Amino acid sequence: MGVTLGHPPIPAVVYSAEAIATRVQQLGREISAHYRYKEVIALAVMNGAMLFAADLVRQLDVDVALDSITVRSYEQGTVSPGSVELLSRPTRTLSGKHVLLIEDIVDTGHTLNFLKAILWETGPATVSCVSLLNKPVRRQTEAYADFIGFDIDDVFVVGYGLDLDGRYRNLPYVGWLPSL
Ligand code: IMP
Repeated sequence: MGVTLGHPPIPAVVYSAEAIATRVQQLGREISAHYRYKEVIALAVMNGAMLFAADLVRQLDVDVALDSITVRSYEQGTVSPGSVELLSRPTRTLSGKHVLLIEDIVDTGHTLNFLKAILWETGPATVSCVSLLNKPVRRQTEAYADFIGFDIDDVFVVGYGLDLDGRYRNLPYVGWLPSL
């Protein structure tokens, strides 16, 4: 399609802004039903999930507080395979609360498992995860998101929060970026 918004062109839109909005609405209903009468802390995993989290929490009809957690995930071969660094913790007390991690994508699964392990140490009632995207064929470790927007194949995608070196996050859709 070649929409650029000033970036190098994205050859194919994988999920349009409209398709994302529809799925986010459905997820909002599903998650609201799951957490009925519960006190939820939604944790946006920064930076990738910031756009998804902003849209999703507005579709939640539950008692929810929004907070964030920041991690840096290293690619295979850069530091040690699948290593993840914690850059910032949530500011709220999570003890006794129902924590909902909001992720952009579950790929190898290392980041999600790292996050869950850290959060369980804080004594929450439950820890669950909603991820906009899920790439099951890329898993290197057993990792499980409770709510998933879309399952995708092994393709690198950008937009709607997902980046390549910090760029493309602002695209309103998820697009395919072929390897250079
Ligand atoms: P993990 O491999 O499941 O630990 O995921 C690590 C991180 O890699 C994700 O949170 C994303 O930030 C990033 N990532 C994985 N696949 C993609 C992609 O297709 N586009 C952009 N970022 C990705």
